[in-house]
Amino acid sequence: MKILAISLGSRDGSNDAMCKEVLMVAQDMGAEVEFIHAMDLDIKHCTGCVACSRSLVMGNGNRCALKDDFNWLLDRCYDADGIFWSVPIFEKTACGLFHTITDRFGPRMDRGMNVIGTKMAQEKGNPVPDPRFLTDKVVSYVGIGGSDWATRIQCSMAMQALTPMWKIIDNDVFSWSKTIIMEDDKIARVREIGRNLVEAARDIEHAQYKGEPGVCPHCHSRNFYLDQDAGKAICCLCGIEGAIKVEDGKLSFVFPEEQIAHAHDTLSGKFMHADDIRENEGRAMAIKSTDAYKQRMARYKAFITPSRPEK
Ligand SMILES: Cc1cc2nc3c(=O)[nH]c(=O)nc-3n(C[C@H](O)[C@H](O)[C@H](O)COP(=O)(O)O)c2cc1C
Repeated sequence: MKILAISLGSRDGSNDAMCKEVLMVAQDMGAEVEFIHAMDLDIKHCTGCVACSRSLVMGNGNRCALKDDFNWLLDRCYDADGIFWSVPIFEKTACGLFHTITDRFGPRMDRGMNVIGTKMAQEKGNPVPDPRFLTDKVVSYVGIGGSDWATRIQCSMAMQALTPMWKIIDNDVFSWSKTIIMEDDKIARVREIGRNLVEAARDIEHAQYKGEPGVCPHCHSRNFYLDQDAGKAICCLCGIEGAIKVEDGKLSFVFPEEQIAHAHDTLSGKFMHADDIRENEGRAMAIKSTDAYKQRMARYKAFITPSRPEK
């Protein structure tokens, strides 16, 4: 059984140290361990070319047009049973590199897209996406901040797991933690997160979330989009629509049971989303091939060209 820890922090900083704390626990529990310092890798931003989703839905396999270290990172991730991510908090959320990695996971690594892509490739007799992309994995996140500005980090970290449908075991935040390696209570909590991850990795099928319950009873998120006019609250993570209720000073999120089937972290929800995208892509492609569309686009192209620094 293998545990991989990935640090998004600076070299030999707090995030590196907490990854190593988890790996020490994992090694003591008999796991094989591996450490990655994400800034060592060349990870390019997703350009939005949609080659990945197009190739999957056309049964042409799992592809990305970018040539960098992301495939190597994917291989390390899918070689592990459990993954621990330690992420510095930047501007109340995950640092940019973590968001770039999250973008590179979706839609290419979306579980629903890979289920569809595998079926389509089999029907066409083409090479199927890596079968590991359809397997379960357990994952834990820790966000480390230098202050108490941290209200968006857990939702951002959990979004990374939502794409491949990895099971989240812990998702915790440490505020005012620039010197976390000197704070024994926080180190003890990180070690507990490590133990929880190893135990979960030993029995992935029965692994359960061990973190704080959060507000959304389905995905544990605390972040909501409030639509005043429609009078509804939408969970920013799983997309379930319902209402925020306050009773005896306690806040809760209530929603109709059928919303679960639409949740973005379920296969049924992912298939609905894929159907919607397929329909809209078809419409968009038809409109883009018209003269009227081409004329409008030509007007924008002719108007101005982007300024660039001289190289
Ligand atoms: C650009 C930038 C933005 C930051 N924003 C926040 C923030 O919003 N909230 C917070 O708690 N810490 C913030 N910090 C502090 C970092 O979270 C902290 O320096 C980091 O956890 C250090 O990790 P490392 O030692 O592993 O590099 C910010 C730091 C930088 C450089």
